[in-house]
Amino acid sequence: MVGDVVGKPGRRIFASVARKLRDSNEVHAIVVNGENAAAGSGITLALAEDFFAAGADVITLGDHTWGQRDFEGQINSERRIIRPANYASGVPGRGWVLAQSAVMPFAVVNLQGRVFMNPVDCPFRAVDAVLREIPCGVPVLVDFHAEATSEKIAMGLYLDGRVAAVVGTHTHVQTSDAKLLPNGTAYLTDLGMTGPELSVLGRDHRPVLKKFTTGIPARFEVAEGPAVLEGAIVDINRETGKAVSIRTVRYREPVE
Ligand SMILES: [Fe+2]
Ligand SMILES: [Fe+2]
Repeated sequence: MVGDVVGKPGRRIFASVARKLRDSNEVHAIVVNGENAAAGSGITLALAEDFFAAGADVITLGDHTWGQRDFEGQINSERRIIRPANYASGVPGRGWVLAQSAVMPFAVVNLQGRVFMNPVDCPFRAVDAVLREIPCGVPVLVDFHAEATSEKIAMGLYLDGRVAAVVGTHTHVQTSDAKLLPNGTAYLTDLGMTGPELSVLGRDHRPVLKKFTTGIPARFEVAEGPAVLEGAIVDINRETGKAVSIRTVRYREPVE
């Protein structure tokens, strides 16, 4: 599972790392958060195709889901792209999807938090409804796109024993709390970022510093320079559908 891909530097390192991991059979499936893929905000179908070609199985999104114009008219044409399940009913797109890895079927659910974020429906009730739809015995990976560490930890414990993994996205900073929860769910508060390393969450630090030091608004472009890919590898037992281990990963350019 790969943290938020930011702009061209993020797409570049994702493609090389994903190809390497897939070619070497180090992973059997890749779930990637693409909410910042297109110039830092949203994604397009063309960019999504590049992700799939590089080895992604499912793309999740978040508060920047609608960052690219007209994407709401396109999201339903690609079932492997999901947006948070707790959007209002009737909103385009789906909140979960069934996929097939090289070794087993799995499901991916995307949720968005409500603490320090724009209002959305309750993610806890939404995930309950989704889990009722997913066939029994299929391991479930949850991307909880949220700001507050408390809300993410709470979701991990809420879903412990019911899904294979709960990992967070959105903060663009990888946390060091990867663990197995008591009932067999792998948990990580945030996967981190896949994008330019010398940046403020993927953006050029100069306009960000101008805004912080003067209060004058500035355009936050995606930064340039060597990229980093951050995420986690979850090992799942094929028989039980439960997680065996979770460990964070970080790759820097040039990717060996
Ligand atoms: Fe993000
Ligand atoms: Fe976000």
